[in-house]
Amino acid sequence: MSVERIIVEGGKTLTGTVQVSGAKNSVLKLMAASILASGTTTLTNVPRISDVALMEEVLRHLGATVIAENNTLTIDTSNLSCYEAPYELVNRMRASTAVLGPLINRFGKARVAMPGGCQIGSRQMDLHFAGLEALGVAFENKHGFINASVPSSGLKAGRVALGFPSVGATENLMIVASAIPGTSVIENAACEPEICDLAEFLIAMGAEIKGQGTPVITIQGTQDFSPVTDYRTVGDRIEAGTFLVAGALGGGPVTVQGFNPEHLRIPLAKLKALGCVLDIAHQSVTVTHEGAFKPTDIQTLPYPGFPTDLQPQFMVLAALADGVSVITENIFENRFMFVDELVRMGATVHLEGHHAVIEGVKQLSGAPVQASDLRAGAALVLAGINAEGSSHISEVEHIYRGYEGLVEKLQGLGAAIHHG
Ligand code: UD1
Repeated sequence: MSVERIIVEGGKTLTGTVQVSGAKNSVLKLMAASILASGTTTLTNVPRISDVALMEEVLRHLGATVIAENNTLTIDTSNLSCYEAPYELVNRMRASTAVLGPLINRFGKARVAMPGGCQIGSRQMDLHFAGLEALGVAFENKHGFINASVPSSGLKAGRVALGFPSVGATENLMIVASAIPGTSVIENAACEPEICDLAEFLIAMGAEIKGQGTPVITIQGTQDFSPVTDYRTVGDRIEAGTFLVAGALGGGPVTVQGFNPEHLRIPLAKLKALGCVLDIAHQSVTVTHEGAFKPTDIQTLPYPGFPTDLQPQFMVLAALADGVSVITENIFENRFMFVDELVRMGATVHLEGHHAVIEGVKQLSGAPVQASDLRAGAALVLAGINAEGSSHISEVEHIYRGYEGLVEKLQGLGAAIHHG
């Protein structure tokens, strides 16, 4: 267990401007997709977070040379020699499975450790397998590894209908279909902005893709991929949403910049419903808030619905509302694990299956609490911003997986927060 903590003294007014980093959930897939082409890819606006460092390790294990300099990554895949993502790495970061599709394309086979459960739920891969099998990939699950292979007749372009718009399955399918001659169609595809970012990256590499951002993606495959230089990672909408909640808790005005507000349409509508005043510009949003929050109901859904990755942060606002709110979690079954910690800080939350009924209180109270996962950790830091007294958040390595300089950025807005 790590001894590192984040310590927050609550009750400070937050004002100023904060810049969000590139999206974790996009850059990890761009890094994996760089495997498709032999040569040097450069990615910019790359967040310096530990999940990116782990994906660097995965790529190095495959034989790539990876150089990280400030927020730019240079990945040379010319001498890729290995098609295996080992258990030690997949176990530490489930998103390592994003190399499955790229390895199938590059080597005609892949050996990827089967991910186990994770803190927020069981996270099966059945949709990845069913979709890729429909394109001709053969799978064998043995000794804890997924062994994927391409038959000697090759893969066949085709139509794949996903049973659920899984982000990871859509990404692996889009990547594999990009290398199959002919037209493939993914139906009931995920529509997340990070899917669009990956599609744009694949297009820059040589694929023809249409419909990204809608439930029907059409892909014209190529076998001629070129590496892309200077590809800028899309701004992180989840980090932006996290800082907008911080601004709401700290009164503001807080301007969050470096992302596309269109990517947060429903969370912005919920902030307004909670009583925040928003000024929405081209690449930024300014939030101000006074008095008590209004209660609201939220249910997490695939994009453009309310993102599960902002559910814990918004529960902090609901915990301070003047009335009863209901939050329904539809994507991951264990995403209420942090609720007990929030209750230790004075929140009143009753869980009924995948519903949380939250009776607002006037103020939270600082306490030692433990982060159970990345977004839960961020939510506890946000709770500390409101709380009376000091909060000590432990297990903060979860937070560093996905937030670049969270403590420093909040200090820049005037929060009394430090590493402990
Ligand atoms: C991605 C994001 C994660 C976000 C999630 C939903 C990354 C690295 N992570 O995760 O932050 O919370 O999207 O927006 O991009 N499922 C199956 N079978 C499958 C695949 C998924 O049952 O084959 C289930 C999962 O268990 C989960 C739900 O579908 O309950 C959503 O998963 P998915 O959309 O695939 O999320 P990830 O790509 O894992």
